[in-house]
Amino acid sequence: MKVKILKVLRESGDYVSGQVLSKELGISRVSIWKHIRNLKEDGYVIEASARGYRLVSSPDLLLPGELQGWEQKVHHFWEASSTMNIAKELAKRGVEEGAIVIAESQTRGRGRLGREWLSPKGGIYVTLILRPKMSPIYAPRMNLMASVAVAKAIRRFFGLKAELKWPNDVLIKGKKVCGILAEIEAETDVINFVNLGIGINANNSISRYEKGATSLKEELGKEVSRKEFLNSVLKEINQQQVLLTKGGLLEEWKSLSATLGRDVRIVAPDGEIIGQALDIDASGALILKSEDGSLRSAICGDCIHLS
Ligand code: BTN
Repeated sequence: MKVKILKVLRESGDYVSGQVLSKELGISRVSIWKHIRNLKEDGYVIEASARGYRLVSSPDLLLPGELQGWEQKVHHFWEASSTMNIAKELAKRGVEEGAIVIAESQTRGRGRLGREWLSPKGGIYVTLILRPKMSPIYAPRMNLMASVAVAKAIRRFFGLKAELKWPNDVLIKGKKVCGILAEIEAETDVINFVNLGIGINANNSISRYEKGATSLKEELGKEVSRKEFLNSVLKEINQQQVLLTKGGLLEEWKSLSATLGRDVRIVAPDGEIIGQALDIDASGALILKSEDGSLRSAICGDCIHLS
């Protein structure tokens, strides 16, 4: 209901009387008043006068009413252990494709390879629940898709030269600004769900323990509008999902890559490969020319740029 009230106030741009709101939304004026009080507690500035209510300003929070077109799909938390945990529960319970779990901060944010993802307020912590109709062997493409979308949104929205480090880190000037974590539940040939976790260092300060990391605020020297930027990331994800089915995603990834052409070290659970990164294949694996001249492919692991 809060989302609906905001929509009416936004569309009007002026005062809307309690009576009109109550008639349009089919609830009592007392309920309207309670929802308005609630919105004010969330940080919305709403003026109340004899003429009714007027929306003066909205907070930079990732609340459902701030994500145009996604309002009904957003599950917003002020604080969560990890949006991945909540998304897993929701996905198992059959929540619709495209649902989004958002937290303003996380107490146990998870990164790739069992690492921690520091998640103080000011960052963007989102998990998208997707049910792509593709063979599980192509599931890593979902990560590529998300990293392409974030890099393109950073370029378009802020004019910063975001690049990709295999498998799916987004870098600015060689420093990590966004990480992506995918959790998949699949049977032999069907994907039940892919939960795509996206963590973006937006307005959060980078601790001295996070070597090689940066944030949008640090790169721009000022705070960014997280809600406007997330709107643009979500729009880009929609566009990239089309490329995922029509083809063209791998080309997009390659054109943004900071890894291809470089000497790299891949540290994977089953060993280490050193070589020159030549290409990625249809499943997102990195193809390398190793030191002895043979071609090797890396499916997962950490990538360290050596040159
Ligand atoms: C990485 O290690 O690079 C991946 C980091 C992924 C972090 C995001 S934040 C939203 C979602 N919830 C989590 O606990 N992790 C992912």
